[in-house]
Amino acid sequence: MTAINTDRRIDVYTLAILNKKGGAGKTLVATSLGVAAADAGLKVAIADLDPQASACAWADVREADDLAVISAVPNRLEKVQTQCADAGIDLLIVDTAPSADSGLLAAARVADLVLMPTRPGLGDLAALRDTLELINTVKVPKAALLNSPKTTALRTESSAAIVSLGVELVPVVFGDRVAFQHAFTSGLGVSEYEPSGKAAGELKRLWNWLSESMESR
Ligand SMILES: Nc1ncnc2c1ncn2[C@@H]1O[C@H](COP(=O)(O)OP(=O)(O)OP(=O)(O)O)[C@@H](O)[C@H]1O
Ligand SMILES: [Mg+2]
Repeated sequence: MTAINTDRRIDVYTLAILNKKGGAGKTLVATSLGVAAADAGLKVAIADLDPQASACAWADVREADDLAVISAVPNRLEKVQTQCADAGIDLLIVDTAPSADSGLLAAARVADLVLMPTRPGLGDLAALRDTLELINTVKVPKAALLNSPKTTALRTESSAAIVSLGVELVPVVFGDRVAFQHAFTSGLGVSEYEPSGKAAGELKRLWNWLSESMESR
């Protein structure tokens, strides 16, 4: 993984999830990863920067109170980070709005790691390229997660296109799975919704990848 974010001073591992494209899977990944991290014994908070507040809506229907989901604005993120550190939070996940340049930059600046879920279409990959151009001045490790390629050929082609943008590709691909949708609308992580399903297996591999990144910080 590339350059460490040397601007960071706060001791709470911060994962920014962003992509200029709407519907890429940002909030789904933020919530399911949050549940996986809480299951692993971490204290987790999600800061929802999206005015549409989808992560907050997910928390509203969630019965368990194992992770905190708070609505935040970009210029308060550093403050949120400090409050999380004071509260003993281990992992802060920042879920961002699409096409909000200032929010994406603010999230990248406070992050230890930027994760960019992306769908495989031409417009999606163009949006990923634009997102990378926007945040390329921020020295933080960045990785993309391929979400829902419909065929093996599309998976291969889009993986190659992502790598050609010079960004790390997470070694797991999310399939287009109903379990992801049901989990999200039920206020659950996919590992809670269908623990032995394929979606839960993919999420587990993503969590393993993230926890290795956290350990090697
Ligand atoms: N792999 C998947 N399989 C099935 N459904 C998915 C998958 N990934 C995302 N979805 C669904 O697609 C929709 C958009 O996902 P999500 O809300 O996470 O995207 P987003 O990037 O946060 O969108 P926005 O930019 O509007 O905030 C949701 O209904 C979500 O459940
Ligand atoms: Mg969202």
